[in-house]
Amino acid sequence: MAFVYISWFLLTQILLQVAKHEAKVPAVIVFGDSTVDSGNNNGISTPLKSNFKPYGRDFDGGQPTGRFSNGRVPPDFVSEAFGLKTSVPAYLDPKFGISDFVNGVCFASAGTGYDNATSDVLNVIPLWKEVEYYKEYQNKLKAYVGHDKAKEILTEALYLISLGTNDFLENYYVLPRRRMQFTVRQYEDFLVGLSENFIREIYSLGVRKISLTGLPPMGCLPLERATNFMANNDCMQEYNNVAVEFNGKLKNMVAKLNQELPGLRILLTEKLYPLFYQIIKRPSSYGFEYAEKACCATGTFEMSYLCNQDNPYTCADANKFIFWDAFHPTEKTNKILADQVIGDLLDTFN
Ligand SMILES: *[C@@H]1O[C@H](CO)[C@@H](O)[C@H](O)[C@H]1NC(C)=O
Repeated sequence: MAFVYISWFLLTQILLQVAKHEAKVPAVIVFGDSTVDSGNNNGISTPLKSNFKPYGRDFDGGQPTGRFSNGRVPPDFVSEAFGLKTSVPAYLDPKFGISDFVNGVCFASAGTGYDNATSDVLNVIPLWKEVEYYKEYQNKLKAYVGHDKAKEILTEALYLISLGTNDFLENYYVLPRRRMQFTVRQYEDFLVGLSENFIREIYSLGVRKISLTGLPPMGCLPLERATNFMANNDCMQEYNNVAVEFNGKLKNMVAKLNQELPGLRILLTEKLYPLFYQIIKRPSSYGFEYAEKACCATGTFEMSYLCNQDNPYTCADANKFIFWDAFHPTEKTNKILADQVIGDLLDTFN
């Protein structure tokens, strides 16, 4: 009798564990810009594309997908770490449909920002439209797996959000409109307000688990260094200062929302900035040889169509480079960065 009881007890425990295991993150869903885009720009009329060689030359047998790298981008590694697909499909890629999006989907668009004026610059998908696509996806998922199952997936999914760099580097510092309206501090506040509104909106749509990525050391992107001839092509200090300040403001906003909105859990990936900066300052500690120049073409200003197969200067081994093109990390860097946050994500959300 005691034996039966103990067996029963153990069985219940095992079933509880299994149930708990199943209730973990069933999907990885992505909003943002080129740091996380897996190919949504391929079919829209923007000059900002990367679905041609040598982009993707180290991606699963060498296919260009529209990722702005030689291989995978961070959400792909996160998805894999949660036991899901090894890459997150792009919502607008005609190769994929709702059956491919049950465990993950990407709405990100290279070149976009929090600010509508940023997505206008290169005619890419504005953040509000990423949300429209997400609503459409919710309906398709309900039709495909049933209402209750869809609701469970959408509630338990991990949402990765990564954008903001383009608001400064493609918009504020390049075009006069926002600079005439805002000081850079005011523009930071404006963007953090937009970030907050965005999170409130997706929360109202049922989103509960969020990983929010702030700005990288954006003054150290090869394109920005290339223009810093006053200081020997060192990092643009002002841009890095803005990134640090902006990330601090995001942190306050995140703390507020975590307190205010029941059931919401936002993890701000604060470790990324210092790690990325460290990699750039001490490349050899991470197995890199080049920090200032990117692999593709001359490595100083080329990206999108300027990073193409006809360029004779593209490097042979991207693993020696922190940056793939003048604006985007190599797969190796993406993996190091993703690995840094995956532990926290698993601890928080799994
Ligand atoms: C951005 O554009 C959308 C669509 O026109 C609009 O609904 C939204 O209010 C705009 N956002 C801001 C902050 O102006």
